[in-house]
Amino acid sequence: MPKVKTEKTPVALLTPKQANAEHARLATDIAAHDKRYYQQDRPSITDAEYDDLRRRYNAIEERFPELRTLESLSLKVGAAPSGRFKKVRHAVPMLSLDNAFAEQDVADFVGRIRRFLKLGDTEAISFSAEPKIDGLSMSLRYQDGELVTAATRGDGAEGEDVTANIRTLHDVPHKLKGRNIPAVCEVRGEVYMTKAAFLKLNERQKEAGETIFANPRNSAAGSLRQKDSAVTASRPLGFFAYAWGEMSDMPAATQSGMIKWFEHCGFKTNPLTKVCRSVEELLAFHSKIETQRSHLDYDIDGVVYKVDRLDWQERLGFVSRTPRWAIAHKFPAERATTVLKDIEIQVGRTGALTPVGKLEPVGVGGVMVQNVTLHNEDYIKGIGGKGEVLREGRDIRIGDTVIIQRAGDVIPQVVDVVMDKRPKGAKEYHFPKKCPCPLHTEVVREETATGEEGSRARCTGEFACPFQKIQHLMLFVSRRAFDIEGFGEKQIEYFFEQGWVKEPADIFTLEARNRTLKLEEIEGYGETSVRNLFDAINERRDIGLDRFIYALGIRHVGETTALALARGYGSWEAFHDACLKVAKGDERAIAEMDDLDQIGDTVIQAVAAYFGESHNRGIVERLTRQVKIRDAEKPKKDTAIAGKTVVFTGSLEKFTRDEAKATAERLGAKASGSVSKKTDYVVAGPGAGSKLAEANKLGVKVLTEDEWLALVGGA
Ligand code: IVH
Repeated sequence: MPKVKTEKTPVALLTPKQANAEHARLATDIAAHDKRYYQQDRPSITDAEYDDLRRRYNAIEERFPELRTLESLSLKVGAAPSGRFKKVRHAVPMLSLDNAFAEQDVADFVGRIRRFLKLGDTEAISFSAEPKIDGLSMSLRYQDGELVTAATRGDGAEGEDVTANIRTLHDVPHKLKGRNIPAVCEVRGEVYMTKAAFLKLNERQKEAGETIFANPRNSAAGSLRQKDSAVTASRPLGFFAYAWGEMSDMPAATQSGMIKWFEHCGFKTNPLTKVCRSVEELLAFHSKIETQRSHLDYDIDGVVYKVDRLDWQERLGFVSRTPRWAIAHKFPAERATTVLKDIEIQVGRTGALTPVGKLEPVGVGGVMVQNVTLHNEDYIKGIGGKGEVLREGRDIRIGDTVIIQRAGDVIPQVVDVVMDKRPKGAKEYHFPKKCPCPLHTEVVREETATGEEGSRARCTGEFACPFQKIQHLMLFVSRRAFDIEGFGEKQIEYFFEQGWVKEPADIFTLEARNRTLKLEEIEGYGETSVRNLFDAINERRDIGLDRFIYALGIRHVGETTALALARGYGSWEAFHDACLKVAKGDERAIAEMDDLDQIGDTVIQAVAAYFGESHNRGIVERLTRQVKIRDAEKPKKDTAIAGKTVVFTGSLEKFTRDEAKATAERLGAKASGSVSKKTDYVVAGPGAGSKLAEANKLGVKVLTEDEWLALVGGA
């Protein structure tokens, strides 16, 4: 069925049916973005785009209040904690702030407060105006002045216990200074990483072949979520105090007074914080901070205004998830203008060609930018992925002056071309017809699933293309594949160029060949580092089947698919045997693969193409002689829920959703996200809404959390 496209229809014109469909779609999208942001520290859209989604979602609920259920995102903040750390329930929930974008929003905010408090026109309201730090909020609980727990925000009600890691921060006192400290104090504020530290850390990560963080916020989050606090200690994190949770006694009567008190206790507070007394002063504060933004050594994404008097804050209270007494006045995405010096074509592991814009280096929000992705041939021409017109059809040419944007986090993008500055004689860019790899193969445009010409260009050199070989080796050693420590991008490139490592198996024969290679004599290496490298390689000779399959670099076989294949076949022998048969067109083998959960045509074709190539079969054979592949845990067949499909809904209290899913899968069941006739059980926690209703409608068996635990034997 074609998707109903309602995105551009003003909310006021949506029919109830359209609103219903879009509300559901937005809920799924927002939940997915929350997960990427809060749990994986890997947002895929800008904060501004996210805010747009949220705004539209709220606007739809406002107009169609019947869509608001207990599961509504408007009543939640963020996503549930990721399950790696112990959970901590916040004594006072950690809430979020409403956003203002335009000056009028600020005037409205102050007007609302005035009306709510029934203040006369002449009565002044003082606000504490503070920079909005783009980091992670943290709640620090002190009992009798001693730090006892540090917790992340999580979903606002429950966060993760990161106490051990937080203790490594210089800005967080282990004991509060001063006398008459209340017995219970929960100090809240923001953990952040400076821009300088972020750049340095990324440099280090790159050298070690580790994850590159998109922005300081993500690197701060990644640094805090370490199982080993020594790692956190090695990452310079700062903390600004600006709020509180449970307090057994209040040491001040205003927000600004509380901030002073935090300082007395030994905390850092933001030096730019200021008390403002009118809308004009607030707006002046906003513009002043905006001009300072790029000179600050930490990321901020706006300013926050808070009613200073705490008795007024109390009276104003909250509306759903945000306080009536505070608002975040956001800054627009940071932009800069610079010259596009060149367009380079990069070849990826699967031969995809990506044009990368080489810029005259320019600072955007304090981060130097010199590369920008230009996505594909159409994008350069001014055509979007769905055939829509981009930049009013303006194409991008070498020599153009371009406006680039680094919106909060993600990689910078070209927003527009300044036509007035286009150099005379600038020529339209022609996408290469031949791949820049040494084979100079013909470039083809990929077909889409529907058989039309897609926008992605591909090198047809496949196994003979050295660019693709290097990319495959990089995937092979990466964290989610063989995870060979100390063997990153740089080393792979160097070893490949020297001809020492041409394919994965060569990594494992390095040590045996070292009598002639003499790696310890290379500059930068020494006896110890060579020993460490060999140890790291040897440590990985024993590998799980799912990782091994993923490391082969078969197209369309990412981590999840690799896991599904590993679980489906159980052993390398069974998998390999099936792949060879599939490659030969054996119908039974194909049907068997197709029967596996999550595996369809695309993957089967990719597997067939991979194992149909003798060159690949050789690579695989030589590699399997070097490593030991551990069998995958096959889903159990003799449990009460084997082969069943289960849906978890509502806010689960006895276990996390991830735990429940893992249990289900371990016992041979499938955890699904939506209820249908095929669903066997719906496990409903408190506040379950539409999914529970659907289950009742379809007559699907509904279980409480306790009934589920009884069914799976308390597993
Ligand atoms: S006050 C009840 N003050 O912004 C709200 N938040 O969107 C308490 N943030 O989760 C928050 N700087 O992580 C407040 N000066 C500041 C802030 C600030 C950054 C973050 C914080 C919060 C988010 C709200």
